[in-house]
Amino acid sequence: MTVLREQSGVGKLQCVGSDTIPRGRFTSREFLQLEYERLWPQVWQIACRVEELTEPGSFVEYSVGPLSLMVVKGESGRLRAFLNTCPHRGTRLADGCGRFHGEIRCRFHGWRWDLDGTNTFILDQHEFPPLDPEDVGLREASVDIWGGFVFVHFGKNPQPLLAFLGPMPALLDPYHPERMRLTGRKATIVPANWKVVVDAFNEGYHIAATHPELLRWKDDTALAYKVFDTHTLYGGGGEPRPSPRLGIDPEDIDQNDLLAMKIRDLVENLPGYFGPDDLAALDEIISTPLPAGVSAGQFYLARRRQGAIDRGLDWSHLDDEQVMGGDDPLLFPNLLGPMVAGGWFAYRCRPNGDDPSTSIFELWTLQEFPECATPPELPAIEWIPECREHDWGLVVNQDLANFAAIQRGLMVPEGPGLRWNLRQEMGVRRFHEVIDRYVFGEAG
Ligand code: FES
Ligand SMILES: [Fe+2]
Repeated sequence: MTVLREQSGVGKLQCVGSDTIPRGRFTSREFLQLEYERLWPQVWQIACRVEELTEPGSFVEYSVGPLSLMVVKGESGRLRAFLNTCPHRGTRLADGCGRFHGEIRCRFHGWRWDLDGTNTFILDQHEFPPLDPEDVGLREASVDIWGGFVFVHFGKNPQPLLAFLGPMPALLDPYHPERMRLTGRKATIVPANWKVVVDAFNEGYHIAATHPELLRWKDDTALAYKVFDTHTLYGGGGEPRPSPRLGIDPEDIDQNDLLAMKIRDLVENLPGYFGPDDLAALDEIISTPLPAGVSAGQFYLARRRQGAIDRGLDWSHLDDEQVMGGDDPLLFPNLLGPMVAGGWFAYRCRPNGDDPSTSIFELWTLQEFPECATPPELPAIEWIPECREHDWGLVVNQDLANFAAIQRGLMVPEGPGLRWNLRQEMGVRRFHEVIDRYVFGEAG
């Protein structure tokens, strides 16, 4: 590894041992290549949701750069992940999602496999030398489930998924992500490196400049940040109150207006953040005058809790902050976004082929449903051809509007290394340190 660094100069792109984050990490093809070789094959990553694989034979293809596999539901219901390549002459076997009817078949010469990956047919097999069933079976990759997400790992003998996730299940299980279901899926290409996208959503420091209207009801200074060995999380600030940056006298705040602003922003400017069931309860909150002496926060909290009970959801174990504000986790390397009691507004992003300046960006909205409820129909993936020509809701529009400017600015040669706010951007720094752990090895 040392030899490679010295020969290529890519070692200059490490952030460990530097008091800046080198900008070439976001722009260099060589760094992207190292990520494909050393990061993506070594981490658990989310391929899909369990609700995408309902019937025996259901499959979802998942690819990141050259790495590709398909998750397939077997006859017994067991999920398996197979490398997405034919053991005969390499043809890709699955694209997108769909259903294999009892068998997997290669389009080129028609070899076939059971849903468990065992080869069942080779045309003119007698004309081949003796073939070991192992060699003509589909190659399995590791697959596991947490929180209703199907995780896959391309490497050999990975650490258990739960060990990789560290403290995150304990922090996020109270929201019951396994009871959530996809209610919306959008995908597009954004004009920025995938790490620009992760960094942009992994801090609240940009709220004041990028989403100034949120400050009317959100105290961005109250957000608390945590970094763990691999993953990060920030949260808090759920109590409706204006940011102290606005200098508003608390006496001048009308609690009814405050609550209405919070709810309207969350409903209208983050569409999909609340599910349809929640929306009716929120409308009712807005149209009900606050009783005397009751703050916006108290009223919102009580009504949200009651709304959950009415819908058959158990939030009794969730604290007030989890019901009012929630958490913004980053499941390293690439799933992040705000979650609150009842739902998750989740972003997944991946590099886009060999172009370090663009990435594949997805927005998944998830809502919690009572265990006894009929699950909603799986929403189709809405492909957005031009990310800036689509209305994602004001907040995401504002974030997406930044990406091209960030990436183009990063490409200015000889620009200085990047700085980070020690408190509010601690998660950004940790994310890059963890990437270095994979790309350059533990020793950095
Ligand atoms: S490449 Fe798949 S059967 Fe030949
Ligand atoms: Fe943002």
